[in-house]
Amino acid sequence: MTKDIIIENTIEYVQSQLAGEGSGHDWWHIHRVYQLTKTIAEEEKADLYISSMAALLHDLADEKLNESEALGIEKVKNWLISQSVQEEDIDIIIEIISTISFKGGNGPSLSRLEAKIVQDADRLDAIGAIGIARCFTYGGYIGSVLHDPSISPRKSMTKKEYRDKSKSTTINHFYEKLLKLKDLMNTKTGKLMAEERHSFMECYLKQFYQEWEGK
Ligand code: NI
Repeated sequence: MTKDIIIENTIEYVQSQLAGEGSGHDWWHIHRVYQLTKTIAEEEKADLYISSMAALLHDLADEKLNESEALGIEKVKNWLISQSVQEEDIDIIIEIISTISFKGGNGPSLSRLEAKIVQDADRLDAIGAIGIARCFTYGGYIGSVLHDPSISPRKSMTKKEYRDKSKSTTINHFYEKLLKLKDLMNTKTGKLMAEERHSFMECYLKQFYQEWEGK
């Protein structure tokens, strides 16, 4: 199989796996991360095939979608074997998707350029206009309060606390995660793209508080 066909098959596979996903990790999130990844990979002169495959598969092993992360990784590995992906490429793709997840900022640091790019793309999709929309969609999905001025954003969190959103509000999620992402970008291209999305969120929050006070 050619690399183009493997990518096309993987697009179809991921679409079928994520049908009906409501937590913000649906197919269209993958589509946007895939597009962002291609844009950044071209700028940064990275391996387009490895970057694309990792972008398409980056959320499939998530523990939210599987009984455990290990079983999720197994599922992705079996898919790559079924597509006759070369063994060393399988190892690289699996290494990338198992290390890029955010998890409260406690993840390992990345060495491979393609991993840095997919992580940047995933983080870019969490900020800006789309990030705001996703943030409120997810807040509704888990039943978070929209905003409560008496609840302050949490300063530092363990992985478990980060997953437990019930103790915070949707607006606090901007301070606990989204506004931190700009400074966590790995690549020069990612940093540039994050700047614009970041200032859009700051602008949005400013307007939100004005309206909250009846102005
Ligand atoms: Ni993602």
